[in-house]
Amino acid sequence: MNATYIEAAKRIAGEELAFELAQDVEACESLLSGILASPSETVESLGRHVSEAGGKRLRPLLVSLSARATGRDFDADRVRKIGACVEMVHMATLVHDDVIDEAEVRRGRPSAASIWGNTAAILTGDVLLAKAMQILAEDGDLRIIRTIAGAVVDMSQGEVMEVEVRGRFDLALEDHLEILRLKTATFMAACCEAGGLLADADEGTCVALRTFGNAIGIAFQIADDLLDYRGEDSRTGKPKATDFREACPTLPLIALREKLSHEEEAFVRSRFGDRVSDEDLDMVTSWMSERGAFDAASRTGEDYGNEAILALQRLPECSARELLVAITGFVSKRDS
Ligand code: IPE
Ligand code: IPE
Ligand code: MG
Ligand code: MG
Repeated sequence: MNATYIEAAKRIAGEELAFELAQDVEACESLLSGILASPSETVESLGRHVSEAGGKRLRPLLVSLSARATGRDFDADRVRKIGACVEMVHMATLVHDDVIDEAEVRRGRPSAASIWGNTAAILTGDVLLAKAMQILAEDGDLRIIRTIAGAVVDMSQGEVMEVEVRGRFDLALEDHLEILRLKTATFMAACCEAGGLLADADEGTCVALRTFGNAIGIAFQIADDLLDYRGEDSRTGKPKATDFREACPTLPLIALREKLSHEEEAFVRSRFGDRVSDEDLDMVTSWMSERGAFDAASRTGEDYGNEAILALQRLPECSARELLVAITGFVSKRDS
């Protein structure tokens, strides 16, 4: 929910929505700051380290815009609390993900695990997650608890499954997409559905928001996986080609496989993992670019983006819906 989105909101959807979103941003930040207070110095400083590094705040934005896109009245305070809750869940998963991926950098700063170590990162990630659950319990809407709890289950299982397929150069496309659905898309779907539930929207609207969230989530993760290979570290705040070094098969690699000769394929397969040299990695990425693997992966991401936009047609025409359409476009073309 950062400045980029507020600017886009002004341009696309007008001053009024931009003003309301800016208020949500402010409220969400101050709620996060309060929630992060802890009697444990590690929990407090680690949590603030991750939160104050920023991040796009996309998930709270999805909650807020989804509630608005129903065209119904809602309680702004609840929307902001659930927004802070989903950002807490997200931060917990990032802290854990960097332990899993042995990532040194996150949001342009040293990852929590690289400063505090894996044990503190895992335990503090658990605290952040538990605090998020506390907010849900206090809000008390069982339907929202159910959708977010389901997403946390999916996300965790998706992360485990991704570890299970590490090193599997031949991972099938469908199996890969299922992991993306579990680890990233269900959570975005839950954020959007929660927005609908906060506005007490009808079943069809909530289903449409969920469908939108699922599709934008897959498009988002495909964009992330493309950025892993060809993003600018200074924009993404993350180092390059971690996925290849970690032997994590993602769409650019899956798309490249069928565009290689037997010899080339044997070469890429043999380098897949942390034994790859920078030179060989440059070769692999130049093939991804020249043989059209990046383009193919982008097209798949755009297809999911289009699916997301289609789902929004079920919602009333309004500026929040327009902004959700625009965000879907940014997600596929984003550079951070
Ligand atoms: C990173 O999410 C994790 C993925 C699902 C790819 P974001 O790219 O939304 O991370 P921040 O919040 O902006 O740092
Ligand atoms: C995202 O996975 C983490 C979750 C969705 C739980 P990645 O490992 O691809 O994300 P980044 O690239 O580290 O942000
Ligand atoms: Mg990672
Ligand atoms: Mg990961």
